[in-house]
Amino acid sequence: MRKKIVAGNWKMNKNLAETKTLLSELKTNLQKAREAEVIVAPTAVNLYMATEELQQVDIKVAAQNMHQAENGAYTGEISADMLKRVGVETVILGHSERRAYFGETDELLASKVSKALQHDMTVIFCFGEELQDRKSDNHFAIVENQLKNGLFHINTEDWKNVVLAYEPVWAIGTGETASPEQAQEMHAFIRNTIAKAYTQQIADEVSILYGGSVKPNNANEIFAKPDVDGGLIGGASLDAESFVAIVNAF
Ligand code: PGA
Repeated sequence: MRKKIVAGNWKMNKNLAETKTLLSELKTNLQKAREAEVIVAPTAVNLYMATEELQQVDIKVAAQNMHQAENGAYTGEISADMLKRVGVETVILGHSERRAYFGETDELLASKVSKALQHDMTVIFCFGEELQDRKSDNHFAIVENQLKNGLFHINTEDWKNVVLAYEPVWAIGTGETASPEQAQEMHAFIRNTIAKAYTQQIADEVSILYGGSVKPNNANEIFAKPDVDGGLIGGASLDAESFVAIVNAF
């Protein structure tokens, strides 16, 4: 059975004090017995504090980005080893904001994926089409290419450390969500693409999250779709009450 996961991508929000407050609200309010695994991704300077805070708690911490080199003269960057040493085992790669604002290409992402997997980290690999791709009915081809070019170089065994996040760019932070049917259609396509490139078993076992304006009032119908295994939540993850409600939507 594949895992259900709800991950909160806090982006460049929440300073030290605010991060502490949100973590403690989540610790208090998230039920111990829940269907979904919970992951939070605070900004890099707060990762160490977050892993310390959450040591005894079943909430994982993810980084929002990582460099592809082992170490070296890359001013401002953070390596996989550095993340691991502060207790971070998961990294989000390929978020559309990284692709759009920081010029991250499929080729670069492929090397980041390899480095993270080499360090036995879990990768939450994000991808998704832009509005013009959907309007021109190109969305399946775009998604297939993003997967092939950024991810499909990995080995069969690596898939146990991969989570996918389909995030149509037109739905991120816009208040516009893909309909549950649109999400299901794309998630089924993604699973099928993996089955063709690898095996049906790998396709059946990988968790595919949906991201893009998931809120407490729409999470339930999106998560109810058979190929949607959870969500990557931006805006609504910044407020404990709404994030907890989304986690409880399973
Ligand atoms: P959003 O962001 O929930 O604010 O649309 C999702 C994301 O960027 O992962």
